[in-house]
Amino acid sequence: MTTTLAERWGIDQKHFWMHGEQPAQPVRFDEARQLWAVSGYQEAVQVIGDPERFSSNLLPLMPMEVDPAITDGNLIQMDPPDHRELRTLVSHAFTRKVVADLEPRIAEVTGELLDALAEQDRFDLVTGLAYPLPVIVIAELLGVPASDQELFKKWADGLFANQSEFSLNEDDLAAQEADVAGKEQPAAEMGEYLLAHAAERRRKPRADLLTKLVEAEVDGKGLTDAQLANFASLLLLAGHVTTTMLLGNTVLCLDAHPDQLARVRADRALLPGAIEESVRFMTPFTALYRATTTEVEIGGRRIPEKQIVTVQLAAANRDERQWADPMTFDITRDPNPHLGFGRGIHFCLGAPLARLEGRVALNLLLDRFPALRTDPTAPLKFMPSPDAMGVSELTLLTS
Ligand code: HEM
Repeated sequence: MTTTLAERWGIDQKHFWMHGEQPAQPVRFDEARQLWAVSGYQEAVQVIGDPERFSSNLLPLMPMEVDPAITDGNLIQMDPPDHRELRTLVSHAFTRKVVADLEPRIAEVTGELLDALAEQDRFDLVTGLAYPLPVIVIAELLGVPASDQELFKKWADGLFANQSEFSLNEDDLAAQEADVAGKEQPAAEMGEYLLAHAAERRRKPRADLLTKLVEAEVDGKGLTDAQLANFASLLLLAGHVTTTMLLGNTVLCLDAHPDQLARVRADRALLPGAIEESVRFMTPFTALYRATTTEVEIGGRRIPEKQIVTVQLAAANRDERQWADPMTFDITRDPNPHLGFGRGIHFCLGAPLARLEGRVALNLLLDRFPALRTDPTAPLKFMPSPDAMGVSELTLLTS
């Protein structure tokens, strides 16, 4: 069933877990990429739960020059104690209440986007809703003009353009260097843009997240400009690309399981469970990377120090040693301790926002379009990056 689904959807073989396949060993050395791959659930939990031995800062192991300034303030790549300090600081600005208060605005933006689709007999879910909604919400939250979304898209496309998997194999070096070089300009432009807005907030505070970040202090210390630019860039990027995938993937998964779609339509209390299951079944952010700081033993394998380890979250989310019927999409799976938002100290800061946007937007979409279904004549398109799993084009019929 699942194999047929992945085939029907035209999913690339590199996303092996979508085809119902799992590596024979939960921890293995990937010769082609010259790095370690962890696909077992328990082993993945072990790696991401141990930042002391598995660092998030890969810079010292990168085979090419990378300017360290571009990672300062990028939480995802930091280790304790710096990570703890910065995360505490930003979580004062990005609280659960800040997110919960966004619900009416998320509903309003969704309503406007759906109004524009109301008369159409078919539309692309991604351009019509799944892309613009998260981008407008995160732009407004940060306090940058949502009307600049073409710019954000250009930068996000530039930063997610890589089609080659991260690899330490010398034969792949040229492709890796090109990937890193290709990201420099969009990263720099995005940083400058956000800093210019932050500078304005220093002069004239407003009720937005940029102002809160400019003002945030822990122990009398605030963010430097580089930290501010990198963190705001991370929020702007992480705040939309992944949520776009979450929305598209959930619609696709439900469409492929009409009985479960009917249950969600009839009982919207089932929607949050459907969203969680879509994050497990079609994990948008498929892999994380860590660097060993010392020799470690994991899953019966000994990994030397200074090795890169990729944690294959999407594969771990289908590890049959952990899950009953892992290849089956089941909106009532409970508990569902998937690793789609990570785990431990780097647990996704935006998970409450992504979940809220998913719930509000999908509820309204189902309300507005009682007969919504995928167009069998339109091919599906997926994000090109190997570390992403999400639709980039999903044509829906409204009747
Ligand atoms: C971290 C996934 C939405 C901001 C992470 C991590 C994952 C993840 C797997 C862990 C990274 C690691 O351990 O190295 C997702 C998915 C999303 C989503 C699947 C949507 C479906 C968002 C949104 C935001 C956001 C909406 C912001 C508004 C962040 C930040 C971190 C993070 C700032 C870094 C936290 C830290 O390092 O302490 N996300 N994310 N994410 N995410 Fe998300």
